[in-house]
Amino acid sequence: MLRLINAVAWIAIIVTAQSTPQPYLRTPSSRQLAWHQLEYYAFVHFGPNTFTNEEWGRSQSTPDVFNPTALDTDQWAKSFADAGMAGMILTAKHHDGMALWDTNTTTYKIGDGKWAKDRIAAGLSADVVRMAAASALKYDINFGIYLSPWDIHRDPAMPKPNLTGTLYDEPQIFGDNTTGDYNDLYARQLTELVTLQYDNGSRISLFELWLDGASGSDTVQTFDWAKFRDIIRENQPGAVMWGHQGVDARWVGNEDGYTVPTNWHTISRTQDQTHYEGDKLQTGVRDGLYWTPAESDARIRDGWFWHANEKPKSVNALMQMYMECVGRSVNLLLDVPPDTTGQIPEEDLETLLQFREQRDAFLKRPLLTPDLDVSASSVREGDSKQYGPANVLDGRTETYWAMNDNETTGVLEIRLDGTYSIDAVIMQEQIALGQRVGGYLIDAGVDGAYRTIVNGTSLGYKRIWILNSSVEANSLRLQILQSNATPLISSVQALGVKQ
Ligand SMILES: *[C@@H]1O[C@H](CO)[C@@H](O)[C@H](O)[C@H]1NC(C)=O
Ligand SMILES: *[C@@H]1O[C@H](CO)[C@@H](O)[C@H](O)[C@H]1NC(C)=O
Ligand SMILES: *[C@@H]1O[C@H](CO)[C@@H](O)[C@H](O)[C@H]1NC(C)=O
Ligand SMILES: *[C@@H]1O[C@H](CO)[C@@H](O)[C@H](O)[C@H]1NC(C)=O
Ligand SMILES: *[C@@H]1O[C@H](CO)[C@@H](O)[C@H](O)[C@H]1NC(C)=O
Ligand SMILES: *[C@@H]1O[C@H](CO)[C@@H](O)[C@H](O)[C@H]1NC(C)=O
Ligand SMILES: *[C@@H]1O[C@H](CO)[C@@H](O)[C@H](O)[C@H]1NC(C)=O
Repeated sequence: MLRLINAVAWIAIIVTAQSTPQPYLRTPSSRQLAWHQLEYYAFVHFGPNTFTNEEWGRSQSTPDVFNPTALDTDQWAKSFADAGMAGMILTAKHHDGMALWDTNTTTYKIGDGKWAKDRIAAGLSADVVRMAAASALKYDINFGIYLSPWDIHRDPAMPKPNLTGTLYDEPQIFGDNTTGDYNDLYARQLTELVTLQYDNGSRISLFELWLDGASGSDTVQTFDWAKFRDIIRENQPGAVMWGHQGVDARWVGNEDGYTVPTNWHTISRTQDQTHYEGDKLQTGVRDGLYWTPAESDARIRDGWFWHANEKPKSVNALMQMYMECVGRSVNLLLDVPPDTTGQIPEEDLETLLQFREQRDAFLKRPLLTPDLDVSASSVREGDSKQYGPANVLDGRTETYWAMNDNETTGVLEIRLDGTYSIDAVIMQEQIALGQRVGGYLIDAGVDGAYRTIVNGTSLGYKRIWILNSSVEANSLRLQILQSNATPLISSVQALGVKQ
């Protein structure tokens, strides 16, 4: 009897194990999965360059140069929240080396300047990083930090005659051949930043650490990425670590808010290995060794820092960026720099708000509702409740349509409740279990006669396909033509107007 019970239990385990699709190769960590869903957030370049009209300051100014006339980090956070952005990443230290937070790792910090001293004397905070974090919390957006690995202030190859003999004349320890350990300095700065606190004593929570890959000097400095990663993991387990080639997210290979239509979330290089070129960073590597999705850092103006002679891009240009990044499974990190007042300029804010309006007007026209009739060529173990095609219409990303493991191609058909005019299609793959799909068609049908409107390769977290011209349809069909493991489709949506 005991034997029989054991046998029954054993079979039950096997059946259960088969019914849930197993992860395919690499999958996102929970921090990466949460990060994918942020999609669009702000980059804030602010520091001495804002006041010297530079992009890469040469670390020649004293901290007195940092002198915002009406700093208001609440205005930043409110602007970004109103613009529909999910967070902001602030340059705590750009290449010039001047720290925007209260640090004991350097004298070259805004805290040593007149602006900060006056504020502190008046009983006000002068720690711009902590102020921005508190504002992000207040307006319910995420907060992240940029800390430049390249540090001109410490780089012996970058002369700084203006600082010679001043309080800011610090040891030139950047580079493998210098006496002094720059990795140790950087690690201490990073440690301070990942352990910053809100006024109430709780640790400031960070969603991303942005460790720039740029360097403009010949000094060779081998960075201790593993040590930096451990510091981040230990203190901010929910934070994604961005580096040129990873660890958790990669550069998209350009700074123009663009990526090619085929995009894989995986690559096969790490931060420590030779750099891929732009093309490879855009496409990623199918079935690569690491889940390292791309993020596109782009600018609302020409420069990263504010310059009086530049204007924000047009709303249409931002729409195009959004569709060629977020619409291609790549997060969009849009730089919106404060000016010398310490606020986001009115015209940039106006542009962001109009962009949001146009985006919402476009995206908030879903035609497919959960009650529509949807069928599939097959359903995993015939279990329509768990894996049926209706899951693609239920508005939940956790549920998905699945077939048996031995099936990698299949067809899903949605019958509309009338004739619609469709101009865009949005689809999501269940990436929690890996990126699988490599070829698909979307066809628009009129009384059963279909014509192809989308011919795609990779799918991934989210694809938005904008059609060249709208099509009439009373049914839609998704054909999965190629997949490296049985495809798992979370969502299919069409945008347009009902006739
Ligand atoms: C550095 O010193 C030179 C010569 O005195 C001066 O012209 C220049 O403006 C200074 N640069 C900065 C950034 O202060
Ligand atoms: C700098 O600050 C850190 C963290 O507060 C502290 O552990 C360290 O002892 C300080 N170092 C110096 C030299 O004051
Ligand atoms: C650093 O020193 C090593 C060994 O002394 C030498 O081979 C290398 O060329 C030096 N690199 C630089 C950038 O000076
Ligand atoms: C401090 O504020 C944060 C954010 O509101 C909150 O999550 C945390 O619990 C607070 N900590 C304390 C000690 O009150
Ligand atoms: C896939 O496997 C199922 C059962 O495991 C079987 O019924 C079906 O015929 C197989 N399909 C193909 C295409 O091999
Ligand atoms: C889809 O694109 C592929 C690759 O360019 C091409 O081989 C195929 O014929 C296209 N299919 C359709 C239906 O357009
Ligand atoms: C849409 O237009 C683009 C650019 O003109 C073209 O490359 C593409 O083939 C067109 N797609 C379809 C389905 O006609």
